[in-house]
Formats: sequence, structure tokens, C-alpha cells
Amino acid sequence: MGKVTVLDHPLIQHKLSLIRDEKTSSKEFRNLVEEVAMLMAYEVTRDFPLKEVEVKTPIAVAKTKRIAGRKVALVPILRAGLGMVDGMLRLIPAAKVGHIGLYRDHETLKPVEYYCKMPADVHERDIILIDPMLATGGSAVAAITFMKERGVKSIKLMCLIAAPEGIAAVQQAHDDVDIFVAAVDDCLNEKAYIVPGLGDAGDRLFGTK
Ligand code: PRP
Ligand code: URA
Repeated sequence: MGKVTVLDHPLIQHKLSLIRDEKTSSKEFRNLVEEVAMLMAYEVTRDFPLKEVEVKTPIAVAKTKRIAGRKVALVPILRAGLGMVDGMLRLIPAAKVGHIGLYRDHETLKPVEYYCKMPADVHERDIILIDPMLATGGSAVAAITFMKERGVKSIKLMCLIAAPEGIAAVQQAHDDVDIFVAAVDDCLNEKAYIVPGLGDAGDRLFGTK
């Protein structure tokens, strides 16, 4: 079973509280989502392997550690996942970025794919799939299935807010995927929005609606 890690660092929780606030403007919302994504990246990359290297300081030779050539791809689920990419790239600048476009059909609530562009060597990379919201889990499950069909072996899912229903759906469909979230909320409402959540992440990021 994939592990669920709730990132309860005070800075993440403080910023998430501001993100949830309906009075937060799109500009501020974007900045905060980017900052939280950067802080979350710190924890999501905790298992990256290190190798020992020697460097010559001005004083002596030091035995030090560097990341051992990890090949990573960030895959935001469009649109709202885009808001988390730049924050993560600040910590993992060598990562490639693939894009997958999915939207939830408002009638059926099922994900519809409309765009995909991945790095050519995506099957050799560790994937961090990013989306602020894990609601029914339909979009995340579809995106993970899609990545696996392209030969990807290692996938982590990173979201700001998850509903218990979304976590269960991902765990049931893909029990090898670890999930990293800043909060697990109460439930979904009748329109499958997360309660209390933050509203529509894409609309709040981009000022649409
Ligand atoms: C939102 C969100 C997720 C999805 C989560 O995107 O960013 O991708 O809903 O819901 P689910 O877990 O029930 O699938 P949305 O479909 O609203 O598209 P958008 O990002 O283009 O606004
Ligand atoms: N998508 C969102 O943007 N918000 C939710 O609460 C659920 C799905």
C-alpha cells in the first residue's frame, strides 16, 4: 500500500491557511501555492540517494555528499498543477517537466484528457505528479495509469489538499504510489468539491470564473 505523508511543517500549514481564505487574491494565491510547493518539494525528495564526493575547500579536502544522478520529471496535471511547478523547480532545477491536460467533466465528474507532452525518456525517470487537489481521485488515477502505460515505474503524487475519498481511490487503483499532501480534509460535497478545501484551484490561480 502506498504511504500517505501529511506535511505538517508550520510554514506549510500557515501558508495553506492563507491559500484557503476566500479573501486571498489570485496574485497572492499564486505566490502562496508556489511557495508551498517549494516547501513540499523538500520533503518529497527526502529519499533521493546521495553519493560521496571529495571537494577541496580553501582549507582542506572535505568528504561531502551530492545527489546521486537522479533523473526526475515533474508532471503537473493541467491547469491547476501548473501553479506548483516553478516552486518545485527552484529546488530541483535539473528536473524535466511533462504536461498532462485533464479536466473533470462537470456532469459525469470523470476526467477527460486533452493534452500530453512528456520528456522522451520519461520511462527512465522518477515522476512527481503534481496537482493541488485530490478530490474523487479520478484525475490522479487516470494520470498515473497514463504514465504507467508509457513505461514509468516510479511515481509519487503531491497535492496540497486531499479528500479521504481521493486517497482511497488512488490507493485502490495504484498501491505502489506514495502520496504527499499538506492536508487531508473532511469530505466531498454534492459537486465533488473538497470540504472545506479551497474552492476551484484552477479558477483561483488564474482568475477565471
Ligand atoms: C481539478 C484539480 C484536479 C481535479 C481533482 O481540476 O486541479 O485536477 O480537479 O478532482 P478529482 O480528484 O475529482 O479528479 P479541474 O478538473 O477543475 O480542471 P482545471 O485544473 O483545468 O480547472
Ligand atoms: N477541484 C478543485 O479545484 N477543487 C475541489 O475542491 C475539487 C476539485
